[in-house]
Amino acid sequence: MSITSYVRSAVSPAKAYKLSPRQIHEDSIFLNLNESPYSLVPKAQAVLESFKTGNRYPDFSQVELRSVIGDYVGFAPERIACGAGLDDVFQILATLFIEPGKEVIISNPTFGMYETFFPLHGAKIVDVPIGPAPDFALDVDGIIGAINDNTAMVIVCNPNNPTGTFFPLEQIERLCENVSCPVAIDEAYAEFSAEHHLEFANKHDNAIVLRTLSKFAGLAGYRVGYGIFPEDMVPYVSAATPAFANVSGLSAAIAIACLEDLDTLKANRDEQVAERERVTSLLNEIEGVTAYPSSTNFVLFKLVDEETATSALAALAARHIYVRHYPQANLNIADHLRVSIGLPHENTAFLNALEETLANGGTS
Ligand SMILES: Cc1ncc(COP(=O)(O)O)c(C=O)c1O
Repeated sequence: MSITSYVRSAVSPAKAYKLSPRQIHEDSIFLNLNESPYSLVPKAQAVLESFKTGNRYPDFSQVELRSVIGDYVGFAPERIACGAGLDDVFQILATLFIEPGKEVIISNPTFGMYETFFPLHGAKIVDVPIGPAPDFALDVDGIIGAINDNTAMVIVCNPNNPTGTFFPLEQIERLCENVSCPVAIDEAYAEFSAEHHLEFANKHDNAIVLRTLSKFAGLAGYRVGYGIFPEDMVPYVSAATPAFANVSGLSAAIAIACLEDLDTLKANRDEQVAERERVTSLLNEIEGVTAYPSSTNFVLFKLVDEETATSALAALAARHIYVRHYPQANLNIADHLRVSIGLPHENTAFLNALEETLANGGTS
């Protein structure tokens, strides 16, 4: 019998999460993965240069990291679980809640990892799509109506990736109040938004707030994410988390140093938010482009049709400027592109290139 016949049926290569390999050129401008464009804050850079204890295991249970994160968000460290990026915290959610055949409710278009990852654990994805542009409204009643005895969890991404929309807090609150299953609120982009859900983690015993240091703190390459779990879940969460939370000693030390320099992180964030507003209004000045308001570090914009979006994507890539396209028919945004906010000169280079490309019929 072939070795592959032993692989669980939930694991399908056809459904793997795919990203194109990074094209590295001297002048590449990466605006496709919502990364931070800033280098490490000085304190974290100093940690990186002096870190010498890679032969030792990290702090068991990442007590110090969880305590520094706890101080940052205002929760006891026991309520915090860490992982190697937020993607890895999804693993804790799956270990806690997913049995084969259980349902996970999501609202497309949203972060693609939910749809790829949870089915690996046998979950069935139930999509209650958000409404059309420009509102991209969350269908709270649709989600409540989709709950049944088989529901393992609802995941809401707020602010939502890739639309950039912030669903009003009252709606998320209504959702938490009207369902008894866990509601995981992915607020990976919380620091770029005027509002967040931290207080829900105290008010609602089914709310789990998910965050990452990849975006605001610029640590995408170091892989540190976390979740804030309900008080009653604490012993279960710690049983479901690997001994060192999959966070390396170096990544933990860098994350701690970053969170001790919040002034620099906030100044970077403020510049990005100002740039986001500049990019949004300049995009809207380009003929044939409609950009939507965003509460994140990226902007989704519509082009006249799918063909224009595909050719603009290729023309930008030919100039080594990378943005994101979502061709999947079920997402209904194939005529859109998503651009991450980079440094001011990168954003300007993108805007100029897009304008020129569209003026040339999207071909160069
Ligand atoms: C909504 C959302 N959640 C989670 C993640 C994953 O973040 P991390 O880098 O912490 O794994 C991303 C990354 O782009 C994201 O957009």
